[in-house]
Amino acid sequence: MNTEQELKQFQERIDNGEKIEPKDAMPERYRKQLIRMMSQHAHSEIVGMLPEGNWITRAPSLKRKMVLLAKVQDEAGHGLYLYSATETLGARRQDLVEDYLYGSAKYSSIFNYPTLTYADICVIGWLVDGAAIVNQTMLAKSSYGPYARANLRICKEESFHKKQGYEMLAKMASGTPEQQKMAQDAVNRWWWPTLMMFGPHDSDSPNSAELIRWGVKTKTNDELRVHFVDRMVMEAEAIGITLPDPDLRYNEETGHWDFGLIPWDEFWSVVKGDGPMNRERIRARRHAYEEGAWVREAATEYARKQRLRAEKAS
Ligand code: 3HC
Repeated sequence: MNTEQELKQFQERIDNGEKIEPKDAMPERYRKQLIRMMSQHAHSEIVGMLPEGNWITRAPSLKRKMVLLAKVQDEAGHGLYLYSATETLGARRQDLVEDYLYGSAKYSSIFNYPTLTYADICVIGWLVDGAAIVNQTMLAKSSYGPYARANLRICKEESFHKKQGYEMLAKMASGTPEQQKMAQDAVNRWWWPTLMMFGPHDSDSPNSAELIRWGVKTKTNDELRVHFVDRMVMEAEAIGITLPDPDLRYNEETGHWDFGLIPWDEFWSVVKGDGPMNRERIRARRHAYEEGAWVREAATEYARKQRLRAEKAS
């Protein structure tokens, strides 16, 4: 698809709210942008299992262990839907994974922070999954059918994640003075990194305009961030948690909460690989990938034999 007429027709389909499906003609750049963004999303879901998985054996009760185990397992499922959705664009999963483990593909900055106490698990559920819902509810309306449908399903599961995180944090915030301190400390450490999840300011976001024109994103990074802060201010207040931003103020004119300056230097340093846990996360993922090579080989061989058997039988 290269001629102006074809590009115009494609844009008309988008503007009419039609979904683009895998076998439809699409501009090469649209396909590339989707592969970049969807695979980054898939990698994030998978690497996101590490900070929480770290607490499965140390969660305070059997119930909390089971809940956390189920949540981490859901994240693996999200990664798999997203890799499958990316494959519909002609990308090979192995290439995507290797570009992230040994190349330059990105994953979300948020997963490069450590989980120091169990309160961090509560806060990840509330803030990180809460931010993911805001971002992914928007992506569930994306112009690319398989991505929109994957996000629809992901958001349903993320809603449970967020509710369980909020419920646990509420319990901690009304617990012993030590628990209250842990809860507040975790919020203090995760608040700014969570705001960074939405990506750079719109003025520093090279991809937003194109993605919005093509209906892949329907809102900008800043619009989503503002929406998220509005919601979190109320939720924090309801459970007696203070958000660590002295500049947080309700703006009568805009009807939104104004907030302080996001530490962008920190964001870019994490994105470039120098966050507190970047090296450890990549090391752990490479180890899992390399140690799992025999499982992939066995699964491939099993599938080959099943295919041969089916061919013989037919
Ligand atoms: N972490 C790492 N890199 C980031 C980033 C972040 N938080 N935000 C932006 N970037 C990168 C972009 O990938 C881009 O780099 P590239 O061009 O080399 O790929 C660059 O910074 C400039 O950013 P843009 O704003 O131009 O990029 P986008 O328009 O693609 O917007 C995004 C960035 C908002 C992350 C968007 O890609 C998006 O919505 N992605 C899909 C959702 C996603 O990946 N979420 C990750 C979290 S997963 C999760 O939340 C799991 C849950 O279980 C908690």
